[in-house]
Amino acid sequence: MSPSLAYTPEIAAQTAHLYAKVERVIPEIEWPVFAPQIAAINALKKERNAIVLAHNYQTPEIYHCVSDFVGDSLALARKGADVDADIIVMAGVHFMAETTKLLNPEKIVLIPDLGAGCSLAASITGADVRAMRKKHPGAPVVSYVNTTAEVKAETDICCTSGNAVEVVESLGVDKVIFLPDEYLAMHVAKQTGVEIIPWKGHCEVHERFTASEINAYRKDFEGLQVIAHPECPPDVLEAADFVGSTKGMQDYVTREQPKRVLMVTECSMSDNVSTANPGVEFIRPCNLCPHMKRITLDNILTSLQTLQPRVEIDPAIAARARRSVERMIEIGGK
Ligand code: 13P
Ligand code: SF4
Repeated sequence: MSPSLAYTPEIAAQTAHLYAKVERVIPEIEWPVFAPQIAAINALKKERNAIVLAHNYQTPEIYHCVSDFVGDSLALARKGADVDADIIVMAGVHFMAETTKLLNPEKIVLIPDLGAGCSLAASITGADVRAMRKKHPGAPVVSYVNTTAEVKAETDICCTSGNAVEVVESLGVDKVIFLPDEYLAMHVAKQTGVEIIPWKGHCEVHERFTASEINAYRKDFEGLQVIAHPECPPDVLEAADFVGSTKGMQDYVTREQPKRVLMVTECSMSDNVSTANPGVEFIRPCNLCPHMKRITLDNILTSLQTLQPRVEIDPAIAARARRSVERMIEIGGK
């Protein structure tokens, strides 16, 4: 039977400690809408021995109030390799849930909306990778985790934005095929000096930022620190003070405590990082990821109630894809 979703005094008391975490970013008037679902999700997680893994781009009520573990793609993949629960809910996009399923084939992995895709993962197929290998014989294939299991199965080693440089350097070769993000590939080539054969995939969120936009913000906000995700175009990265994965950006703000910061990335990052950094002013031009935003409290709750939709991977593909993720976990991020 589905739990009552009324905002009662009991629910208010039960969730007060969670509201304290998000009061800077969620107006009090909105809490009665979120609190009953949050309480229901947290109760159901216990009942089902389930956990919620959430990416840094999830909205604050998901990120701070129902997740057991939050992080960038690398941290989520690593955590996915070390989970006790029987059921894992991925509050993120489909490739992240697939990576978790590859590492936990015997567990139930749920993605609350199967349509939570990624423009990078959609930009390339396994057949495209085979064609690239044929064209560049001998060059190892490094794939960003933002790919389907089918592409990972054609890959020598995966990487994330958090360990791409380290993974490419670990191969000790002069030339690699790096896919599918062209801008991350250019960034890695610059950092490593390795010849990179890229694929022309782009993140539909980060490709929209421009260097002129960044420079205009610098003029308007004195002392502004600009930190950018490496999926941004090269001139945006050039205009930034720091480039890093979502975790790298979060760590930068926590460590440096800039007076004012502009995070050149998805909207929810500033919300989520700002809660723990009250002394930092966040300037917020942001682009929403429509895929990340398909995940809601509502569909997390339904997913836990119905244990659907599940992520399933063809076992023959999974066996090959798993190797490329496991290599990343072994080599990257030591
Ligand atoms: P991170 O690995 O930096 O969290 O990036 C994932 C992603 O999808 C960025 O758009
Ligand atoms: Fe994919 Fe870009 Fe969304 Fe990240 S932000 S999931 S790379 S579309």
